[in-house]
Amino acid sequence: MCGIVGYIGKSHNSTEVLLSGLTNLEYRGYDSAGIARICNGEIEIIKSCGPIVNLKDKVNYSKNSNIGIGHTRWATHGVPSIENSHPHKVGKTTIVHNGIIENYLELKKDLNAIYEFKSDTDTEVACALLDNLYKECNDMLKAIQNFQDIVRGSYAIAILSDDEPNTIYVIKHMSPLIIGVGDDETFIASDVPAILEYTKNYVVLNDGDYAKVTNDGFKIYDSNGNEKKYDVRTFSLDASSIGKNGYDHFMLKEINEEPEIAKKLINRYIENGEIKKLPSIKDCKNVTIVACGSAMHAGLIGKYLIEKNIEIPVSVEIASEFRYKQLFIDKNSLVIVISQSGETADTLAAVKIAKEKGAKTLGIVNVVESSIAREVDDVIYTEAGSEIAVATTKAYFAQVLMLMFLSLRDKDLDSEDFKSAHVDIDKLIHRDEIYDKIAKKIHEQNDIYFIGRQIDYSLCMEGSLKLKEISYLHSEAYAAGELKHGSIALIGDGTPVFSVITDESIAEKTRSNMKEVKARGAHVILLISEDLDYDGDDYDEKIVIPAHQEFLKSIIAIIPLQLISYKTALLRGCSIDKPKNLAKSVTVE
Ligand code: F6R
Repeated sequence: MCGIVGYIGKSHNSTEVLLSGLTNLEYRGYDSAGIARICNGEIEIIKSCGPIVNLKDKVNYSKNSNIGIGHTRWATHGVPSIENSHPHKVGKTTIVHNGIIENYLELKKDLNAIYEFKSDTDTEVACALLDNLYKECNDMLKAIQNFQDIVRGSYAIAILSDDEPNTIYVIKHMSPLIIGVGDDETFIASDVPAILEYTKNYVVLNDGDYAKVTNDGFKIYDSNGNEKKYDVRTFSLDASSIGKNGYDHFMLKEINEEPEIAKKLINRYIENGEIKKLPSIKDCKNVTIVACGSAMHAGLIGKYLIEKNIEIPVSVEIASEFRYKQLFIDKNSLVIVISQSGETADTLAAVKIAKEKGAKTLGIVNVVESSIAREVDDVIYTEAGSEIAVATTKAYFAQVLMLMFLSLRDKDLDSEDFKSAHVDIDKLIHRDEIYDKIAKKIHEQNDIYFIGRQIDYSLCMEGSLKLKEISYLHSEAYAAGELKHGSIALIGDGTPVFSVITDESIAEKTRSNMKEVKARGAHVILLISEDLDYDGDDYDEKIVIPAHQEFLKSIIAIIPLQLISYKTALLRGCSIDKPKNLAKSVTVE
């Protein structure tokens, strides 16, 4: 949420690095963007509303600059506008910020006597506070230390000062920030993709750390002001792994990567009919799965699988709720957190709370070395590769695969069936004709419903979220048996209802519910696994999911739903990879 980039060095023009970095970070927010660069000792700030391309159109590329900071915004305080976009400059201090300053109103009251504020943002207040603290001591490192004592909230900040045109300062607290290490040049970024074109080497800042970056390199200090030693890590993927590889959209590319991910994970974890290399969780008294959005939907599938296969009780909690509720976990509990980005603020907070309660924490995380990956006691990486489209597809798919493996850890499996799955998944992805037909049917509807029971209900929740977030169509998922307790009133002539049936034990029951909506005029689109397939008059369209062993056949049923969402959004002319109001990495509460 919000992307930060910074550059200092002799090898490149900062403008080029900042704009390329912001383009690669645009998935974190795209309401507005801006850069501050120092040209001949003077700070120049350029901002624009909308995507980075608008900023690119405004910039004079011929100016030489070897130092600058940039920002792409996901609005929290104040509408997307030039005034509210970053960088903010107050007095001699210019900053870009990712996070939320919680006590900004209190601080603003005091600072109002000294500064005239132009924006509605918490960032401008943070900038004024820093400037004021700097005025008091003429030492930015000291000012930063004092700043950290005063502000509450989350922040990753990059700072330029009029008095030090060859220095960038950075601060990190509960929002991600890395320092990229090049030859005679240093980069600042929220995330590695921003700088991958220039360097694969980076240092992760911890909460409370701050740093001074100059042409001679950088020094990192801990919250007590002591200089710290650091490890330089190397990112294992290269820049091409974050390109579109010929696909029109990242989302489509990422869906198309699912067969390969399935193949890789199945080969890694299944050997001679057994799951290898994963911890056994069967001795836990109870399991709580905590996550947000699609990752939480993956968690619902995990609950079903773990209860069924390991027979221990599992609860699934939305991270933003978990962190403020009465908890019943202790040292015998396992808390599994699931996160693609590994940076989701609520999920990260949940890990800390679970640890305070003495529970063991296990992360299922995609981004290696992310904050959540580092915070949990044990981590399983989903290894889905960089996911750029804001709507998750392949990372969700890898999450459910890993949860399935975890639940089957102590069972005998049909390895051959697993090993052939990627071929069927690939075929399922390429059934364009039926997905196009359904997308055409639903793209002008107002309301769309999804029904299913048990694991199929969890799939429906994810299918519904995918559709609404990228096509902006209203959709809801219901437990099929619950519909008649009120919501069936919404079903009328032609209302599209997706019905998912992959679980044999409840197939007949869901069919009855399909008949109920069909009787009220619904246009029923049935997703059914091959082994349960039938000819009938209770559906209008049918997608048959290839038959595989229990659980596996269920989790691949998400793929048609992802593709139908994609194709529906395409027909509606939506911004598929960057849907409105969303951002990929939700680093604020
Ligand atoms: C939906 C989506 C979000 C994320 C959620 C959690 O397509 O991507 O609902 O699943 O914001 O994000 P992570 O997994 O990064 O913690």
